[in-house]
Amino acid sequence: MEKIIIAAVSKNRVIGRDGKIPWHIKEELKHFKNTTTGFPVLMGRKTWESISKPLENRINIILTTNPGFSFSHPNVVICNSIFEALAWCEENNYSRVYIIGGERVFEETLKIADRMIISELKFDVEGDRFFPPINLNEWELVSFSDKNEFVINEYLRRK
Ligand SMILES: NC(=O)c1ccc[n+]([C@@H]2O[C@H](COP(=O)([O-])OP(=O)(O)OC[C@H]3O[C@@H](n4cnc5c(N)ncnc54)[C@H](OP(=O)(O)O)[C@@H]3O)[C@@H](O)[C@H]2O)c1
Repeated sequence: MEKIIIAAVSKNRVIGRDGKIPWHIKEELKHFKNTTTGFPVLMGRKTWESISKPLENRINIILTTNPGFSFSHPNVVICNSIFEALAWCEENNYSRVYIIGGERVFEETLKIADRMIISELKFDVEGDRFFPPINLNEWELVSFSDKNEFVINEYLRRK
């Protein structure tokens, strides 16, 4: 099963501020929705709280260490570790999982991801959550698509 990180990152590598994404770019949201629809999306509890309802037409897997955390919805799965989340996707025969953030979850999955789809914004933003630097010795840029306010860069882990 392919593990794919998908993120939107400002020029100065910001991904969040005060628990939210500090920009609103319709074209980027559309790209995120089109790419992830139909597949499970894996997110940290804090990112879940910032979106507060399940993303439609996707299984929403929420990572938390809190055994008392619950949310009853047919498209929500709660897992206590990344291992458990990936095992759930495998058991349910998904060919890929999209890892959608936030900072802590990106940091934890960077070493196990196979592919990254990064919307790199053309401007700086103030923030308090960041995406780790991409080491091009480990990742190969395999495609890019230039949009008005951002470029979608796709990276594959080098063998
Ligand atoms: N620009 C983007 O593409 C993008 C995408 C997503 C999010 N964001 C932004 O990123 C920020 C949130 O990032 P964050 O780093 O603060 O939080 P986060 O990664 O969304 O969530 C962290 C929480 O997830 C749980 N968690 C993480 N790893 C776990 C593990 N291995 N096992 C069990 N639970 C685990 C823990 O929850 P418990 O504390 O409950 O145990 C942890 O406190 C927000 O500002 C959000 O808007 C940006």
